[in-house]
Amino acid sequence: MSRGFFITGTDTGVGKTVVTAGLLAGLRARGIEAVAMKPVQSGGVMVDRRLVSEDARFYLSLSGISLDPGDINCYCFPAPVSPHLAARRNGEEIEPDVIKETFARLAGRYPMVLVEGAGGLCAPLREDGFTVAGLARELGLPLIVVARAGLGTINHTVLTVNWARHLGLTVRGIIVNGCSVAGPDELEQDNVRMIARMTGAPVLGVLPRIPGLSVEENRPMNLLATMNAAVDWDSIT
Ligand SMILES: Nc1ncnc2c1ncn2[C@@H]1O[C@H](COP(=O)(O)OP(=O)(O)O)[C@@H](O)[C@H]1O
Ligand SMILES: [Mg+2]
Repeated sequence: MSRGFFITGTDTGVGKTVVTAGLLAGLRARGIEAVAMKPVQSGGVMVDRRLVSEDARFYLSLSGISLDPGDINCYCFPAPVSPHLAARRNGEEIEPDVIKETFARLAGRYPMVLVEGAGGLCAPLREDGFTVAGLARELGLPLIVVARAGLGTINHTVLTVNWARHLGLTVRGIIVNGCSVAGPDELEQDNVRMIARMTGAPVLGVLPRIPGLSVEENRPMNLLATMNAAVDWDSIT
């Protein structure tokens, strides 16, 4: 039976793609033939005159999986706006069944599927208010929550974890992303401690800022080595 995780975040731009790519490469380095998917991308990039998901491209280049970004991405819109609006501007509506079919196809071929959401849990995918959280529930996957390291993260992370649980979702753990390069400073360490205490969810890793890394420019730098050192892999595999 296939397993997987739904990678969500406390906000957009918190590092979901970096963490998803790092988990994917780290799992594969541990002999688990995982794959990742990005169901909905708003703000795709032009590659060879084709609009592709930059998040999907980033996972594939770090992990070396020879799939096309289109194999692991269902919807890719040019505008970097909320998915429901990006879809409307394209004259489309996001269909959860299309995403579920792609997930089922990947889950039939790979023993673990990582699914990256868009924005945070309450980001709407459709005009009718169907959200990212609704998609996570329909896919039946436990969550990994990516959180910022600095000021404000306790509030955002506790809200996200409590809302997930209110909706009946399982939170497998939290990965704190973007702490100081030399390791978490006093504020960041305290944030991690309070997040663990106030949510009761395990902090599965604390990932530092990696100089030069860029999803937009497809530059993973030493992400795999950094993830290897930063993550509690026994809890994930
Ligand atoms: N640990 C990190 N070190 C360096 N840059 C990072 C790190 N995490 C995220 N970034 C950068 O921050 C931006 C947002 O990260 P991303 O993973 O794309 O967020 P999300 O998927 O949540 O929108 C990207 O430009 C990415 O390159
Ligand atoms: Mg992303």
